[in-house]
Amino acid sequence: MNILGIETSCDDTSAAIYDGHCLKSNIVSTQIVHRHFGGVVPELASRNHIQMIVPVIREALEQAGLTFSGLEGIAVTQGPGLAGSLLVGLSVAKGLALSLGIPVIGINHLEGHIWSNRLDNSDLTPPFLVLLVSGGHTQLVRVDEWGKYRILGRTRDDAAGEAFDKVGKLLQVGYPGGPAVEKLAREGKADAHDFPRAFLEKDSLDFSFSGLKTAVLNQLRAHDEDWMLSRRKDIAASFQEAVVDVLAEKTLSAARKTGDRIVCIAGGVSVNQRFRERLSGAAHLENIQVFWPSPSLCTDNGGMIAAAGHFYLAAGKSSSLSLSPMPSLNFS
Ligand code: KG4
Ligand code: ZN
Repeated sequence: MNILGIETSCDDTSAAIYDGHCLKSNIVSTQIVHRHFGGVVPELASRNHIQMIVPVIREALEQAGLTFSGLEGIAVTQGPGLAGSLLVGLSVAKGLALSLGIPVIGINHLEGHIWSNRLDNSDLTPPFLVLLVSGGHTQLVRVDEWGKYRILGRTRDDAAGEAFDKVGKLLQVGYPGGPAVEKLAREGKADAHDFPRAFLEKDSLDFSFSGLKTAVLNQLRAHDEDWMLSRRKDIAASFQEAVVDVLAEKTLSAARKTGDRIVCIAGGVSVNQRFRERLSGAAHLENIQVFWPSPSLCTDNGGMIAAAGHFYLAAGKSSSLSLSPMPSLNFS
């Protein structure tokens, strides 16, 4: 069953073809226009999706060796995300489904991130634990079975990726901050600054990163720009270590609580190498297996949406053509 997956929730326009076994193509066009503004500008994002969505879908079909008539279903991100951006993907998906006479299904973007693990590991079977750590979300999710998810903990303020982006802005490394902060951190000392780690109440699986971001801001406010430029590698490394410590500790606490021996990581921050080392090392000591999707599947992509969509469409489920954006969609 060849499924076209469409993802336009934020600033990546992506389309992919998945047949239940093989990801035949996964094309991602990242909008660079936002870099000038230090963050995603919703109106520009929608306009860029409108320009790119058809060429990206055509390329996905071409790379998969298919034409439109070879498609058997369409999966599209319904939310969470920017309303205007979601609307572009949904409109194209519904128009195609109607003209081709095939079913369409709306997919929760967060569920898509979970399915990215399955694309890299066809044996992955619930139950397992997921740490979803992206620019918009940081949450621990129990996958009881495919399609059945329980949130065990979530951020009370900033998402981890958002904290990377905000600190990236303070350190003047441009947007998105995550990859650039990681690059700086590689040459810095992680113990140069003792930034706070918010573990919150005993037994809490929630996260909080706004205090850490404020600690970095206060440190920078106490000095001038030259000081920041001369110390930013150490600041980046110390900040990254604080985020990574909390993510790793909370994830292992959740696994101890549920008794799960398999933990999957999802979302853009899971590209971070220091996080991979830190969590994999600690998990190994406790006999917990950690799955990391390959970097191209960690960040937003149509492949993960196609994989989730394939599951539902193959089970006979689909959405009606009144499908509309749900910018605040979450689990449960
Ligand atoms: O999952 P994603 O592509 O989009 C959302 O759904 O948010 O995640 C993007 C987030 C951004 O905040 C970006 O800064 C962060 O993932 N990110 C990273 C790294 N690469 C991307 N954060 C830390 N280290 C990285 N290497
Ligand atoms: Zn995402």
